[in-house]
Amino acid sequence: MNSSERNLRAVNLPADWAPDSWRARPALQMPTYPDPAGLEQALAELRRLPPLVTSWEIFSLKKQLAEAQEGKRFLLQGGDCAESFSDCESGLISNRLKVLLQMSLVLVHGMHLPVVRVGRFAGQYAKPRSADSETRDGITLPSYRGDLVNQPEFTEAARVPDPRRMIKAHARSAMTMNFVRALIDGGFADLHHPEYWNLSWVGYSPLANEYQQMVSSLGDAVRFMETLAGSEVHNRIDFYTSHEALLLPYEEALTREVPRHWGWFNLSTHYPWIGMRTAAVDGAHVEYLRGVRNPIAIKVGPSVHPDQLLRLIDVLNPDDEPGRLTFIHRMGAAQIADRLPPLLEAVRRDGRRVLWVCDPMHGNTESTSNGYKTRRFDNVRSEVEQSFDLHASVGTRLGGVHLELTGEDVTECTGGARELTDVDLERAYRSTVDPRLNYEQSLEIAMCIVRKQNQLAVPTLR
Ligand code: PEP
Ligand code: CO
Repeated sequence: MNSSERNLRAVNLPADWAPDSWRARPALQMPTYPDPAGLEQALAELRRLPPLVTSWEIFSLKKQLAEAQEGKRFLLQGGDCAESFSDCESGLISNRLKVLLQMSLVLVHGMHLPVVRVGRFAGQYAKPRSADSETRDGITLPSYRGDLVNQPEFTEAARVPDPRRMIKAHARSAMTMNFVRALIDGGFADLHHPEYWNLSWVGYSPLANEYQQMVSSLGDAVRFMETLAGSEVHNRIDFYTSHEALLLPYEEALTREVPRHWGWFNLSTHYPWIGMRTAAVDGAHVEYLRGVRNPIAIKVGPSVHPDQLLRLIDVLNPDDEPGRLTFIHRMGAAQIADRLPPLLEAVRRDGRRVLWVCDPMHGNTESTSNGYKTRRFDNVRSEVEQSFDLHASVGTRLGGVHLELTGEDVTECTGGARELTDVDLERAYRSTVDPRLNYEQSLEIAMCIVRKQNQLAVPTLR
């Protein structure tokens, strides 16, 4: 352990923690593997495989998140509800990256803040479920828990949890990350060439003009800087990954020590989060995340009490380390005004350092009369806008958004500039889990964020 670094950071190795100490706690949402020897063999293999990220990257993200806590950056975290093995495909990956880059360009341009870019990808393969099993026509099978665990088809063979899928998920995550890294390192994200990220809609969308104006004004700014500097401005960007740390044996196998930093790191992703269903303070998931040095996030739903939140902070960030802890609130547009302020007040009163992020998706899911799970764009927008106002009124700060989106022309959420209706959902509904914003709705939400933030910023400038 590097003690000078430890003193510098004033962070301590948590007591009584080990990568497997979660095993002594109640672990919700875990599959039952019928073949323990096969499970152990897969985990042993996983423990030997190279990690997907490095501790250096983890620290640079933590620093950026610390800056977001101070209002010097804004976090954009987005991607599919769940990735699937079959969607590990170049077009889908690059389109998702394009839409995230376009959104970050809108945010940078409109908010005058650097953006922390985090994908909900390269490992987002496990899903929490409301029941352990599913019954159809008198047949009961284990629930589908994401491609990391089993397959969605309703057959015994597909649903039985298969530990080899963890090896495949690791490989698919590595391929996804490799492609994203190569695109970014190769200049795909270069502001000199925003046309690289154009998606077909740019030609005909109602939002196209506004977007193209931003692109050209940013291009002018870059050229102006270059004229001043007398050389080319290099705008290399960082992109980080995140996923729900749900399947703890998988996360444990990728939890490692590294030569140059003390402590343990989850090296399967930069920024693991735990979902609303597994965020009990004495549960296995909180115990696991307590000991890794990554920045971590916790989803906070409408039933969480302020005391629970303060206990989570005590356990997960006892040293009040900057950038360490994010709370992603996901209350729903109808509940946020009642539920969020007491939480914000409690944390502010206690003087605790957290990054507050709004997930306007998961509290706004509903079913249509024609049987689709959807979200209305107006509710998504309203939850984000209310978040800005509620934080401003309590004196805390909204530091980012967490969105489910895709770079494809899907019709899964209704509303938006194209005013999609319930009937449109039939045209291109592809998600097997939660409905995602399509590329155009994603851009539109980025524009709404900018407008809202600018409205709030005006009085403080006077
Ligand atoms: C999710 O992010 O896909 C999810 C299940 O969220 P939550 O835990 O907030 O319900
Ligand atoms: Co989801």
